[in-house]
Parts: sequence; C-alpha cells; structure tokens
Amino acid sequence: MDVKTKKKRILSGIQPSGKLHLGNYFGMMKRMIDYQNNHDLFCFIANYHAMTSNPNQEILSKNTFEAVCDFLALGIDPEKSTFWVQSDVPQVTELSWILSSFTSVSLMDRATSYKDKISQGLSPNMGLYSYPVLMSSDILLFDSDIVPVGKDQKQHLEITREIAKKVNNKYGQVFIVPKPEIDVKNQLVPGIDGRKMSKSYNNIIPIFDESKKLRKSVMKIVTDLTEINSPKDKNTTLFKMYCLFLNDKEKIRLTKRYDSKGLKYGDVKLELYEKIMDYFKPYRDKRNYYLSNYNEVEEILQYGAKKAKIIAIEVLDRIRSATGISYKT
Ligand code: ADP
Ligand code: TRP
Repeated sequence: MDVKTKKKRILSGIQPSGKLHLGNYFGMMKRMIDYQNNHDLFCFIANYHAMTSNPNQEILSKNTFEAVCDFLALGIDPEKSTFWVQSDVPQVTELSWILSSFTSVSLMDRATSYKDKISQGLSPNMGLYSYPVLMSSDILLFDSDIVPVGKDQKQHLEITREIAKKVNNKYGQVFIVPKPEIDVKNQLVPGIDGRKMSKSYNNIIPIFDESKKLRKSVMKIVTDLTEINSPKDKNTTLFKMYCLFLNDKEKIRLTKRYDSKGLKYGDVKLELYEKIMDYFKPYRDKRNYYLSNYNEVEEILQYGAKKAKIIAIEVLDRIRSATGISYKT
C-alpha cells in the first residue's frame, strides 16, 4: 500500500482485572471499536500486566477469558482488526527487557501509577515497578501511531515516547514514536461515589452485571439534598452518567428537567438503569454466547496472535539488529 494512503495504526489494551464498567467502555472500548472501520486497529488483553497485582491462577484465567468475550461481544471484529491476548505474543517480554536498558530508574521513580498502587495496598514487586516498560513494549512492538487511553494512562504514554526517542537517538529510526489520544469528553467517567469510576475505588457500574445487581448499583449513585422544587446542579455524577447515553437533543431535554420543579433523583436513576439495560442488551446476549463457546473464542485468539506476531517479529528483528543482540554479521 502507498505510504500516503496507509491507515494509521491504533493500538490499545485493557487489563483483565475484573468486571468491565461504564468508565472502561466509554473511556476506551467504545472508541476502539468505532475505530476498526477506518483504521488499522490493534487491540489486546493485557494479562501480563494484570499479573503484577498477583491475582490467583483461577481469577487471572477467568478474568482473561471474560475480557476477551466482553470485547468480542461489544463489537471487536477479528477480521477487521487484530485482536489477541498479550501472552500469546511473548515477543513483547523480550522487547520489554531490551527497553529496560534504555529506561532510567529516575524515569520509573516518577511514575505515579506505581505509587498509587502501593498506597492501595498492592505489594511492591518489580513487575509493578517496571509496568510502564512493559506497556512501552506493547506499544512500540507493533509500530503503533496512536494509542487511545483514559487520562490516567497519559504518563505511561509520555514514558513510552521518551524511551522510543532515546533508542532512536542512539540507533536511528527504529521505533515509531506514538501519540496518545485522550477523549476529552469521556476522559473521566464518574463512579457512584462521584470519584473517577475505578475497580480500585469500589464505585463501579459493571455493564454486564445481572439486572437486579445493576439496578442496585445505579440506585446508589450519590446525589445532593437539593429540595424537589429547586433547580438541580448539572455538574453532578448522575447527570453526567445519564448523558453518556443521550444524544444532543436528549441532553437539552434532561437539562430542562433539571432546571424545572419536581424532578426526583430516584426517577432519573430508574431511567438511567433502564437505559443501561437497553443499551447493553444485544451485547449481553452475544457475550453469553461467547462465554459458552470456548473453542470458537480460542480459534479467534489464535488467529489474532498469528496476525500480531507478523508485525512483532519484524519490529523485534529491527531492534535486535540495531542493538547488536542479533550477532549475525
Ligand atoms: P480501573 O481503574 O477500573 O482499574 P483500568 O485501569 O483497567 O480501569 O482501565 C482500562 C481502560 O479504561 C483505560 O484506558 C482507562 O484509562 C479507561 N478508564 C478506566 N476508568 C475510566 C473512567 N472512569 N473514565 C474514563 N476512562 C476510564
Ligand atoms: N495500562 C493500561 C491500563 O491499565 C493497559 C495497557 C497495557 C495498555 N498495555 C497497554 C493500554 C498498551 C494501551 C497501550 O489501562
């Protein structure tokens, strides 16, 4: 293909670390899935990353399989895109080792995610500490141009760019220096307590929870004590969450209701619960199908890993030759 018409390569990954929530979906997955129609999409389940928090065997394998089913159900098309599980392309760990020699300890010391995770009680291990190097490897191994992520991953992209530039300065144009892409609109989906929705804050709305459980989570969304006939604040969790499911006209309508007398938060919550159920209904059915068809999923993943390896081996050869690891003369 002509260089000028070559599609941009978009790459992103998600850790299989628990239930998929509205923040994951609107902050990252939806965008990824939309991309596959007119970009060269690379998307993977980051199970080596999930290992850094030391889950047990059963949990890690279950979460990995479920994350795969989530993505497939939500619309990742294994023909249009390249979709795999990180550990099925183990070249990523070799590149990670090579990159670690170009990563200063001070750069890792500046990474806030490590400090955050330790403060949340995770045990300090080298995997957790060098997590950004493995993430850089995920990105650089596939010649990625653009990496769509939530705001919390921005620093990891800065680290990736710094490592790539360091290698390129020494050896010439080995890596493509990727750009992060942060969707300003949905960069921070709030959780039920008003903080950023995150598994680690225990404030998530899992999109595939069964209906009763999901309803319970929605009913728990924090609201204020504004009197029923007073205008309501729109810079609030419930309003923002509801807007994720509305088009522009519907948003105006909701705004008007918030400004009028008589609005009950309980009614809005019930409407939101129904919106969530309706929106994800077709995906829910598809997900159940994949969950009970392991062999089909396995085949899809092997196909994806095969496609991913073609690029991985090419890029790894490039860095092996550039650095002298490949000692053939
Ligand atoms: P969690 O914080 O729940 O552990 P992850 O770290 O697994 O979520 O995030 C997976 C992807 O979803 C990342 O790209 C992240 O930036 C995005 N993401 C997670 N939570 C949110 C949120 N509340 N708003 C927007 N994007 C989010
Ligand atoms: N660190 C990312 C997260 O927690 C997941 C991830 C791993 C990733 N490797 C990546 C995201 C490469 C984008 C590109 O959400």
